Amino acid sequence: MEPAKFKTLGEEGAFWELFCGQSDDRIDQRIREAHVRSVLDLGVGVGIGTVMLYYTFGFEHLEGVDRNSEEGAVEAHIKIREEAKGEAWPYPRTLHYLWSEVEPVPSCAIAVKQTYSALREKIQLRYGCHIQNYVSLQPHYDLVIASNVLHFLPITQLREAWSRIQAWSKPGGLVYVRVKPERKEVTDTEQFIRICDEAAEKLGLKRYDGKPTGEGSHITYSNLIAAELL
Ligand SMILES: C[S@@+](CC[C@H](N)C(=O)[O-])C[C@H]1O[C@@H](n2cnc3c(N)ncnc32)[C@H](O)[C@@H]1O
Repeated sequence: MEPAKFKTLGEEGAFWELFCGQSDDRIDQRIREAHVRSVLDLGVGVGIGTVMLYYTFGFEHLEGVDRNSEEGAVEAHIKIREEAKGEAWPYPRTLHYLWSEVEPVPSCAIAVKQTYSALREKIQLRYGCHIQNYVSLQPHYDLVIASNVLHFLPITQLREAWSRIQAWSKPGGLVYVRVKPERKEVTDTEQFIRICDEAAEKLGLKRYDGKPTGEGSHITYSNLIAAELL
């Protein structure tokens, strides 16, 4: 197996850095070969990753949930962006304008940029709902994502959240979970990691430890690289 082209599991800042031609070929290959039709993104935020997933792979059904309101998620996203860029967001502060910035790359399944309303119809987003209470639109999904979200849950609800991830995954389905156990919200880092390790093992996910950054370290649990490719 050739070395990774760009980012691979554990090196990513967010799930969407792992596709769109920017990733370890093994991840793209796995997603394409798994014939994914349905995706559930837990803690979806503004859904930019979901829009990118749609452009890249053209999945049939995309669904996301977030505890924040739509307006709150947009504000939180724009604030981080403004701080990072040191300049004010120049457009109306809506999901519409954030999604308008996402460009499909030519090799994508959906090579033509979609209108906001077409995307909105394609991507089912539910705001103002916790993962713990979410009643999903489908019983199971081919790909379940929980990117940078489980560390916001009270540790007493962590096992239950992992059980829900397991229940939402089809047998042999793809799962991607990225956590930051050193976040201030995590009351007991060691216990948090222990619960995640145990749950991930049950699901057959491999653990990838990211390099520590200013925000502390993160861990990715996933089967996005097939065991035989490792
Ligand atoms: C750091 S953002 C991550 C957004 C996106 N998944 C990513 O990887 O870039 C965390 C998101 O999780 C949401 N969140 C936190 N706790 C949640 C919960 N219990 N249920 C649903 N969403 C939650 C927050 O509102 C926020 O939008």
